[in-house]
Amino acid sequence: MPTTLASDSLTLGIETSCDETAAAVLRGGRDVLSSVVASQHELHEEYRGVVPEIASRAHAERILPVVKAAIKEAEVSLNEISLVAVGHRPGLIGPLLVGVSAAKALAWSLDVPIVGVDHVQAHLHAGWLRERATGSQSGASHEDSIPTDAFPALGLVVSGGHTALYRCESPSSIRRLGGTIDDAIGEAYDKVAAMLGLAYPGGPLVDRLANEAAATETRFDFPVSRLGNHSLDFSFSGLKTAVLYAVRGVPARAGGRAYESGTPPLVLDDQTKRDLCASFQRRAIEAVTLKIERAIDQWFMLRKADEAATPARSLLIGGGVSANSRLRTQLVSLASRRGLALRLPAMAYCVDNAAMIAGLGYELARAGRLDDLTLAAEPTTSAC
Ligand code: KG4
Ligand code: ZN
Repeated sequence: MPTTLASDSLTLGIETSCDETAAAVLRGGRDVLSSVVASQHELHEEYRGVVPEIASRAHAERILPVVKAAIKEAEVSLNEISLVAVGHRPGLIGPLLVGVSAAKALAWSLDVPIVGVDHVQAHLHAGWLRERATGSQSGASHEDSIPTDAFPALGLVVSGGHTALYRCESPSSIRRLGGTIDDAIGEAYDKVAAMLGLAYPGGPLVDRLANEAAATETRFDFPVSRLGNHSLDFSFSGLKTAVLYAVRGVPARAGGRAYESGTPPLVLDDQTKRDLCASFQRRAIEAVTLKIERAIDQWFMLRKADEAATPARSLLIGGGVSANSRLRTQLVSLASRRGLALRLPAMAYCVDNAAMIAGLGYELARAGRLDDLTLAAEPTTSAC
């Protein structure tokens, strides 16, 4: 049953699934009154990856100050909040438990409903967010809500933990079409960065170095994964391993096996690092755009078989890697070539944040998909 939630009601969003402690206040489903993100990158940098125990402890210490800061920045009071939305899956179980427990305590004490939000699906909402005047007085107009003619839409999430394509019938009705069978694209970026001795998380640095070598981006011919002819899944481990072999070299003989031709390790001078980043980025982004084109083609075939089937009208993009310069440029031309509207998130909403959680939570609540205080933290997403 749809829930009555006014279009100018305030939602408090909470996000703790990985290494960002975040809280946000949204008016309606789009207007961000505040979005506070406390990143833990400095705590995990020396390990070149997120350490779950360290992350859990940092979330526990930071969650209440972060919620308070979000309320203060939004210039509202806690008792004006009508809904609490929390990212409850997928993610690291310790960190998720901190956010879910805080959200339950707040919903119970404020006597408002709670809604659990899938973190990966929430990334698809990021392109709808926009910054608005703070305070509870400035009401949103109805025209400001998400346009229904943007749907159905093809969704793409490209992040450090996930790479997946979705079919979205509405902002809250989302079905997975395919995803990575091994590494996520952001993970591949971070591992390539580590091979080159760049800081963690390395995606933005690889992107920057790649842009400095646009003229030599074909120096290394790395593979692009296609999988089967009809597959909408992704694979990035082959590309990552190809970069590793280029960097470390392939021995002529190793582990009792002889290889046809060995190659020596590369001398990692600055230009070689730039060329490796550019050659890697070219193929990583090609693997993504190739699957988007394939999904659009398959949707088109469906339309041919069934006249009533509505073709995709827009592309919704989200996740940390949607900040990537090459991906953004290529998506603009792909969308215009295929006649689709494109929703790219503002840079602040590409990476993990709680505004996207509040936004999708609001839409789920409006569709009647509320939870209660038995809401559980779930490390994986089972079926969606
Ligand atoms: O969405 P996000 O904050 O966290 C997850 O839910 O995983 O994504 C973080 C990922 C990291 O792997 C980071 O290296 C990558 O996004 N990233 C980028 C860029 N900016 C962030 N990767 C490539 N190019 C970028 N410009
Ligand atoms: Zn994320």
